[in-house]
Amino acid sequence: MDQPLNRLAEEISSCRLCPLWQGRTHAVPGEGAFGSLFLVGEAPGQREDELGRPFVGRAGRLLEEALLAVGLSRRQVYITNVVKCRPPANRRPKKSEIRACLPYLSREVAIIKPQLMLLLGNTAADAILGQAGLSSLRGKKLASYGIETRVTYHPAAVLRNPALRPLFFADLREASQRLRGQR
Ligand code: URA
Ligand code: SF4
Repeated sequence: MDQPLNRLAEEISSCRLCPLWQGRTHAVPGEGAFGSLFLVGEAPGQREDELGRPFVGRAGRLLEEALLAVGLSRRQVYITNVVKCRPPANRRPKKSEIRACLPYLSREVAIIKPQLMLLLGNTAADAILGQAGLSSLRGKKLASYGIETRVTYHPAAVLRNPALRPLFFADLREASQRLRGQR
């Protein structure tokens, strides 16, 4: 395991920079591969808080299914969240909590050096690009942290609204092809 990434995970595990530490069982640092696709969700949910790993609940299963459908395994990508501790009752993280936690995300990007970023849902888009409104952001060639960036739906939104499923899968396919230099 990479030293800087381990050190960062340890720092996150004992972080008290915003009030979300009070409700956590485990902080949830990002995990996965270097130099590949970097996925950013919103915040840990119940299952993630229990296990200390990102996207291991229902939304995570859908994300893994979509990754596999486009030829990517979970181990081949990096998965993280805008905030690393679970908000009470899964509410959206507050602006102040996002501001406190975001320096960890930029350190993850600096260590992982991804080829492509994929922001999952409005919370990630707003936190990282300063822009929400998925319907206008989807399909645009964006950049964040100096890295090529795309936006798609959050898998939890896809679970709530199955009509989004083909769009979500298409966005992941586009990202996967971009990684392979096919578009
Ligand atoms: N939803 C998220 O945004 N992140 C997770 O890790 C799990 C569910
Ligand atoms: Fe620290 Fe982020 Fe957890 Fe807040 S959410 S306590 S800033 S790791």
